Amino acid sequence: MEKIELLYEGKAKRIWRTEDENLLISEFKDDLTAFNGEMKSSEAGKGALNNQISTELFKMLANNGIQTHFIKMLDNNHMLHKACNVILIEVIVRNIATGSLSKNLGIENGTILPFTLVEFDYKNDALGDPKLNDQHALILGLVEYQDELDKLRRMARQINDILKPYFFEKGLKLVDFKLEFGKDKSGNIILIDEISPDNCRFWDIESGESLDKDRFRKGKGGLKVAYENVLNRILQH
Ligand code: C5P
Repeated sequence: MEKIELLYEGKAKRIWRTEDENLLISEFKDDLTAFNGEMKSSEAGKGALNNQISTELFKMLANNGIQTHFIKMLDNNHMLHKACNVILIEVIVRNIATGSLSKNLGIENGTILPFTLVEFDYKNDALGDPKLNDQHALILGLVEYQDELDKLRRMARQINDILKPYFFEKGLKLVDFKLEFGKDKSGNIILIDEISPDNCRFWDIESGESLDKDRFRKGKGGLKVAYENVLNRILQH
């Protein structure tokens, strides 16, 4: 399957049209951005690591009954997947308080939340991805019905219920992560985008060390080694 035309270039991926209108190719870039594009850098090999990590996680989730857009990994930086109508809501799932939750609400960094928190952000760079409640999402027409918002929350919790113990067994705490969803050609809501250390926070259970994009956000270095570490744990069965 070949790339025919660039449809969209995001901060971490390019999305290409293929000869099949139902299939797209995502090209994972080495670029790194944080704080809505205010911090920028690049790390050779990061895109390939995220492609491989996402591939493994999409396969594992599919084996556990989660419908995703994933078809196959084509090469180091390219993934073939279904074409979907993207729902412009970033679904944030949190098990432990850190990042913007600690900053905005003053919850101490590292506090284990009494239950899994699911939040919606409006996927809109120009507005800085603001928080959304259900009424905002319906007024903006991001989905048609309340049922669809309920389904996004249900799927996000199901995915967390699979990923959290999976990573715990591999010595990592799944602190929080961001998911995106789309509607396939039959109108089913399915998981899209990627699942990688660019959009998840992983803390090593023993050392507490961050093995994710916080290394870049906090200027710590060692990003590629951290992503390789996550991939190696995923590949260990
Ligand atoms: O920054 P914040 O604490 O809200 O991030 C929560 C989680 O969502 C983190 O795992 C972060 O990597 C992810 N996220 C993301 N893309 C965004 C916002 C958050 O991947 N635009």
